[in-house]
This record gives sequence, C-alpha cells and structure tokens, in this order.
Amino acid sequence: MTATQAQEALLTCAGLDAGYGKGHPVVRGFDLVLRPGEVTALLGPNGAGKSTLLLTLAGLLPSLGGTMNLGDVPVRSGRARAMARQGLVLVPDDRSLFTQLTVRDNLTLAGRRGGSTVDQVLDYFPALGKRLKVAAGVLSGGEQQMLALGRALIQDPRVLLVDELSMGLAPVIVEELLPVVRRIADGTGAAVVLVEQHVRLALAVSDHAVVLVHGETVLGGPAEPLMADPVLLERAYLGEV
Ligand SMILES: Nc1ncnc2c1ncn2[C@@H]1O[C@H](COP(=O)(O)OP(=O)(O)O)[C@@H](O)[C@H]1O
Ligand SMILES: [Mg+2]
Repeated sequence: MTATQAQEALLTCAGLDAGYGKGHPVVRGFDLVLRPGEVTALLGPNGAGKSTLLLTLAGLLPSLGGTMNLGDVPVRSGRARAMARQGLVLVPDDRSLFTQLTVRDNLTLAGRRGGSTVDQVLDYFPALGKRLKVAAGVLSGGEQQMLALGRALIQDPRVLLVDELSMGLAPVIVEELLPVVRRIADGTGAAVVLVEQHVRLALAVSDHAVVLVHGETVLGGPAEPLMADPVLLERAYLGEV
C-alpha cells in the first residue's frame, strides 16, 4: 500500500476474526480497505459469515482478533453506539424499522441535530416523500428498504454497511435500489459495503468485490473483471479457487 492510499483509507481491517465465541471464529483473517465513495460488494454463499462480519464492523459483535482502524484511529470493537457516532452505520437484513411509527418519525429519530435532514434523504428516495405520514409497517417491501437506507443515510455515515437489501424483494425493485446505493456513495463520499445475493446487480454498482466462503476470503479485487468472468465467480462460490 502506498502512503497516499494509506492516508485515504477510511476503514482498514487486518486479520479480523469474527464470530460468536472465542475458539470458533466464523470469519477468519479478514482483510479490508475501504476508501471514501467506493462500493465494495461482499459476496458469498449462505452461511459464509457475511452478516457476522457486518455486525462486527458495526460494533454489534466484539471482534475475536485482528485490528480495525477508522482513518488512523484504532476502533475499539463491540461498542456499537460509539462506532455509530464515528460513522459506522449498519442497515441490518431485518431492516429494524419502528413499524408503528410514521416514516417521518423513523427518519427524525435516527437523525441528529445539525446532521442531514429528512429533505436531504428524500433527494435519494423521492418516493418516500408521499409516504411521510404513513406508518412504516404498512409500506411495501421496497419502500421499507428505502426507509431503512434512509435511516442510515440521515446518520451521515462514513462507512455504510448494507446487509441483503434484496431480502424478500422482487428483482425489479432491487434493480432500482442498488443504483441508489451507488449514488449515495458518490454523493456523500461514504464507503459502502454491500452484501447482496443478486451478484451481477451488485457487481454492476460496485468498485471492488470480495468473495467469502466458509469464513475465508477466496477472491478479492476490482468488480469489473469479475463481472466479465462468471465462471471464476461460480468456482469461487464453490470454494474451487
Ligand atoms: N447468533 C449466532 N450464534 C452462533 N452462530 C451464529 C449466529 N448467527 C449466525 N451464526 C453462524 O455463523 C455462520 C455464518 O452466518 P452468517 O454470518 O449469518 O452468514 P451469511 O450472512 O453469509 O449467510 C453460520 O454458520 C451461522 O450458523
Ligand atoms: Mg446474512
């Protein structure tokens, strides 16, 4: 890594072990460098450890080994609130909305004084503008996912971690939502980690890709050549590379 690259890195993980108890890390020796405005697709089969990794990056699980740095500052793992204040924000796969509260209240409760406004979030998700007074629980799946992303966005993330945006959504909705994730990275300068089962759609909006299989990184690099090599990707998923 050159000095310039080191300076630019927003989040750096080295040799990160993640899991639910010492002795049996689910993810082992994970390395990652995230830079402002870049999208990294975190791919891999079910059970590979993608969600475990995102929970650890967001501080909801303490790391079991290795290091994490935000800029040059070491992150003390497992402190979700402190990490959120530092700009590490997770959109969990269950969306975690307040279903009884209105769309507006879901957004304002996530925001902070002096931070991004509801109107700024609506720039990315204009469809939510007509739904501000509606309870989050009655939104469509796609709208709920927009709101989950909006709740993350209003926190002004420096690192935005998105877990399976597409869970339970029709592919056509995913096709609309993933480019918005790209626009968020471009527009806010946040580094985005995108866990996604729709591999091609994810690669199309990503700069980098990492393939995790059984907790080990089997493939990593620029997204574009991977798009062009579905056979390599398939072999990676099967653990053959
Ligand atoms: N709360 C938990 N306690 C113990 N093991 C878990 C827990 N959640 C997930 N796991 C295990 O961790 C492994 C990776 O799961 P996960 O990170 O959810 O994978 P992915 O998101 O890639 O599908 C799986 O073997 C799963 O059974
Ligand atoms: Mg998962």
